[in-house]
Amino acid sequence: MMGFSRTSVGDFVIVMIVMVSLIGKCINGENGEYEGVGGGAPMVKTEQEALYSAIQGFAGEWWNGSDLYPDPCGWTPIQGVSCDLFDGFWYVTELNIGSIDDNSLACAPHVEFRPHLFQLNHLKSLSFFHCFVAPIPIPSGNWAALSGSLESLEFRSNLGLIGNIPPDFGRLRKLQSLVLIENGLSGGLPDNIGNLTRLKRLVLSGNRFTGEIGDGYGNLSELLILDLSRNSLSGSLPLTFGGLTSLLKLDLSENQLEGKIPSEISNLKNLTLLDLSKNKISGGLTKSIQEMSSLEELVLSRNPIGDDLMDIEWENLRGLMVLDLSSTRLMGGIPESLSRLKKLRFLGLNDNNLTGNLSPKLAELPNLSSLYVYGNNLTGELKFTQGFYGKMGRRFGAWNNSNLCFPVGLMATSFGPFGVKACQEVRTSFRDSGSKMVNENKNLDSHFRTSLSSSKYRFDMIWCVFMLINFFM
Ligand SMILES: *[C@@H]1O[C@H](CO)[C@@H](O)[C@H](O)[C@H]1NC(C)=O
Ligand SMILES: *[C@@H]1O[C@H](CO)[C@@H](O)[C@H](O)[C@H]1NC(C)=O
Ligand SMILES: *[C@@H]1O[C@H](CO)[C@@H](O)[C@H](O)[C@H]1NC(C)=O
Ligand SMILES: *[C@@H]1O[C@H](CO)[C@@H](O)[C@H](O)[C@H]1NC(C)=O
Ligand SMILES: *[C@@H]1O[C@H](CO)[C@@H](O)[C@H](O)[C@H]1NC(C)=O
Ligand SMILES: *[C@@H]1O[C@H](CO)[C@@H](O)[C@H](O)[C@H]1NC(C)=O
Ligand SMILES: *[C@@H]1O[C@H](CO)[C@@H](O)[C@H](O)[C@H]1NC(C)=O
Ligand SMILES: *[C@@H]1O[C@H](CO)[C@@H](O)[C@H](O)[C@H]1NC(C)=O
Repeated sequence: MMGFSRTSVGDFVIVMIVMVSLIGKCINGENGEYEGVGGGAPMVKTEQEALYSAIQGFAGEWWNGSDLYPDPCGWTPIQGVSCDLFDGFWYVTELNIGSIDDNSLACAPHVEFRPHLFQLNHLKSLSFFHCFVAPIPIPSGNWAALSGSLESLEFRSNLGLIGNIPPDFGRLRKLQSLVLIENGLSGGLPDNIGNLTRLKRLVLSGNRFTGEIGDGYGNLSELLILDLSRNSLSGSLPLTFGGLTSLLKLDLSENQLEGKIPSEISNLKNLTLLDLSKNKISGGLTKSIQEMSSLEELVLSRNPIGDDLMDIEWENLRGLMVLDLSSTRLMGGIPESLSRLKKLRFLGLNDNNLTGNLSPKLAELPNLSSLYVYGNNLTGELKFTQGFYGKMGRRFGAWNNSNLCFPVGLMATSFGPFGVKACQEVRTSFRDSGSKMVNENKNLDSHFRTSLSSSKYRFDMIWCVFMLINFFM
């Protein structure tokens, strides 16, 4: 469905016909429904008027649908509106309000949710983007009318959208995607969202939600993406999160969450991203993290976790590309097993109390492009090559380790690692291993500083593929 959101109804119909003849199967599994398409199938009058009125509530009084778009599912399609045939009549199945592009249905400065919106009871997808500027709450009490059809509901970047999540969202039992991102919403997360067991994607990030995450959220066993980041949620992570076994991405960063990382989290065998950064998580790293074998990005930075790294069998996390444990009150040494994470691109261990040496084997990681260990208490000599320092530049950060130094050898001090002083003594063995690594590490300069944001993009891709697969079923 996503793929058709911006096409005109005419294109949509043609694609549908092709698809029906190719696959012999349409969206609803109702074969043969489309034979009369193109001949101007009718639209029930109440549906048509409800559509005009609903849109007028958002676009403003000047918007006269019957004037501008006399046949909204046929030869005068409305940008942002898609229709489908049910028993020979057109019904609106998708409505996108807000300024997506020049032709889209832009919102008036003052908008209203008209009751007519909830008469469009074939709606599968409803979205609002950059629409609400003046403060307005999401209406409550009407949503059950869409419970038989609505699969995707999205409010994105609406600064004027305030108030709570209406309780009757919990009755949208067909919902597969609920996205409330970057609005002004507040209050607690309703427990009954846990009833929406078909949800695949739940994104509530960038609002002002408070309170705890209810145990019921652990019942969403089909969830692929759970993103509650950038709110003010408190309390601990529910132990029931171990039930989110399908999850690919869990982002709870930038909240006020506290307590331990529950060991149940190791049930999330398919999880590729775990981001708990900028919370108040404490109580150490759970050893069960090492069982999350699909992890690609583990971001726990800026939490008072307080532990050492030695107990965890890091080499189990074979897919790990981003490991950010900066500012987590870590103590003890840096385990050499980290250098067996061959896919590692980003390693952040800065601003902790780590001690001991830094293994030069880390330089053998083929894709490592950022290595931060500054602000620790590392000691001894750094045994990387001049080539490594040259390749990494400031993306190798080892400053503010008062007892760390680098051997100068033949290299000029100016080619050494930034902010690290030269050792008094020179080791001759250093030069031999050095020149070898220069060759191995050439050309790897500019990969990835942005792995974190690229992963967000990747998950949007996963989501699209998922929706397309769904489309054919
Ligand atoms: C739209 O325009 C028609 C005539 O052009 C008029 O009869 C109708 O009342 C208008 N509708 C609205 C909702 O303004
Ligand atoms: C929905 O959730 C609430 C609170 O969690 C619960 O009391 C209610 O029985 C649930 N409703 C359904 C239909 O499952
Ligand atoms: C979660 O599901 C279980 C079993 O289906 C049910 O007993 C429980 O009440 C649900 N929890 C919530 C908070 O809805
Ligand atoms: C995990 O991913 C695999 C491969 O994509 C899939 O077959 C499996 O069903 C997933 N597990 C869960 C619990 O969703
Ligand atoms: C390191 O440990 C000392 C003493 O325990 C403590 O005062 C300091 O805050 C710690 N530093 C970091 C960055 O965790
Ligand atoms: C390193 O990155 C390249 C390019 O992104 C990729 O093709 C390659 O598989 C990566 N190597 C490892 C060991 O992950
Ligand atoms: C760093 O380690 C040295 C000795 O290893 C110790 O004397 C010093 O107190 C430590 N500094 C901090 C800030 O922990
Ligand atoms: C080193 O630490 C001090 C104080 O802890 C800080 O002011 C300084 O900016 C740090 N230097 C670098 C290069 O980060």
